[in-house]
Amino acid sequence: MQSTYPHTERTAWPYPRLFAHRGAGHIAPENTLAAMRVGHQLGYGAVEFDAKLSRDAIALLMHDDTLERTTNGHGAFRDFDASALLRLDAGAWHSQGFAGEPIPTLADVLRYLGDNGMVADVEIKPCPGRGAETGEVVARELAAYLQASPHAASQFFVSSFSVDALRAAQSVAPQVPRTLLAERYDPSCDALLQSLGCRTFATDHAALTPDLVAHMHASGYWVMAYTINDVARAREALGWGVDAIFTDALTDMAAAFPTRHR
Ligand code: G3P
Ligand code: MG
Repeated sequence: MQSTYPHTERTAWPYPRLFAHRGAGHIAPENTLAAMRVGHQLGYGAVEFDAKLSRDAIALLMHDDTLERTTNGHGAFRDFDASALLRLDAGAWHSQGFAGEPIPTLADVLRYLGDNGMVADVEIKPCPGRGAETGEVVARELAAYLQASPHAASQFFVSSFSVDALRAAQSVAPQVPRTLLAERYDPSCDALLQSLGCRTFATDHAALTPDLVAHMHASGYWVMAYTINDVARAREALGWGVDAIFTDALTDMAAAFPTRHR
């Protein structure tokens, strides 16, 4: 593992150490505005969520390519216009207290997070075959929001497993910071980080080693690890120098780590 791409001077990590995964982890229905509110109420200053496009190219929050797990709809997300998706119930699957919670638009979530001073990792999660289009729409929307809301300028960045999405984001909104997501490191990640102009490498914590963290840091990149729900494992990763972790275990992590981590 050679540090051949010192493309940038790595400065101090500018965000919280703990990111509430999909808004509020397991406590509220993932990728909803209710989840963002719960994350905020629990003292989290940073969230991660997943954005993809409806058939008519509106950016909405959703993890899966299909509707069954987290809504009362059926079928493929990409087969429906936003008007139909926004009528679905995205809360009842979690618990009755959240029944009626809709799928939110990216616009609504950015406004909520920006108004509340929260950091957001906007994961671009394209439906199959829509990587470039999704990257372009999400990055343009983010850039437009940030231009209109300069107070939030340092709060938001994008991430993706989709190289096409990151390349499109880089092309239309180079000023929005980018994170490369990879299930595990391989040497092609080094070249991708450089060519996509990313600042951060994010990977599955199970695939992370202290050597990999050191390699990324020596190359000028920050490191994030998903998804850590065990406090001891979180301590270990942060001890290796991982810059931030994603977690579903909001209350456990809040009890274990100092407030400044959030
Ligand atoms: O962005 C980190 C993490 O969210 C990636 O995995 O499947 O939960 O979107 P996933
Ligand atoms: Mg995600």
